[in-house]
Amino acid sequence: MTDPKDQLIVALDGAPGEVAAWADALQGAVTWVKVGMTLHYVLGASIIDDLHARGFKVFLDLKLHDIPHQVEGAAEALAKMGVEMMTVHAAGGLEMMAAAVRGANRGANQVGKPMPRILAVTVLTSMDATGLHQVGVPDDPQTQVERLARLAQQAGIGGIVCSPLEAPLVRPILGPGTTIVTPGVRPAGSEVGDQSRIATPARALELGATHLVVGRPITQTPDPAAAAQEILQEISSKGALA
Ligand code: C5P
Repeated sequence: MTDPKDQLIVALDGAPGEVAAWADALQGAVTWVKVGMTLHYVLGASIIDDLHARGFKVFLDLKLHDIPHQVEGAAEALAKMGVEMMTVHAAGGLEMMAAAVRGANRGANQVGKPMPRILAVTVLTSMDATGLHQVGVPDDPQTQVERLARLAQQAGIGGIVCSPLEAPLVRPILGPGTTIVTPGVRPAGSEVGDQSRIATPARALELGATHLVVGRPITQTPDPAAAAQEILQEISSKGALA
């Protein structure tokens, strides 16, 4: 059975001081943390080194999207830093995603570190059908998610980031065992905040997620380690039923 600690990723979305306090509180309690672009633009590589030194695995969520040459170079640099997971936008295209895989492979090989898992972001959960139409996509979000998941699969990407409710759409495309990371996870009774397409941790796993990204329901509590523990408990009991 998978260790529940390998399935929970805590999003450290805050100012540097807050993040340091959360890292103190969560050290030893969880394995994975997610660093987004806001924190990374402020602290750069030092936040990755700091989190690694504390024993965390790092999911660096920069959602790369540029010409293939640029993305290849960025993925190479991030792989050399030793991040364990990173993201690219599937909308960047087949060649761009393949370039990310190539760059990461080269970077990891150069420094003798493991290849990071490269995840493709399909349609942002903040986009609805109207938003897609505005950028020239006539299909509904689900159809676009499926299309981009197929493209990511073809490019040799290691997994997909999508809402828990989209996991059943992408699982048949990716096949069993491939990584599906879902944000929009809310334990029963917690604040929904600005998330709309949400599921509880147990439900997200039932729908096919392999990893759950949870931010505020853990970080915005008086005891983040206890909040994380409760979610890990829910993941374990789901595993016991599977
Ligand atoms: O605090 P909360 O649990 O809502 O945090 C969710 C995290 O997942 C945030 O870092 C957010 O940027 C990220 N995310 C998301 N929806 C996506 C992709 C990433 O909420 N489609």
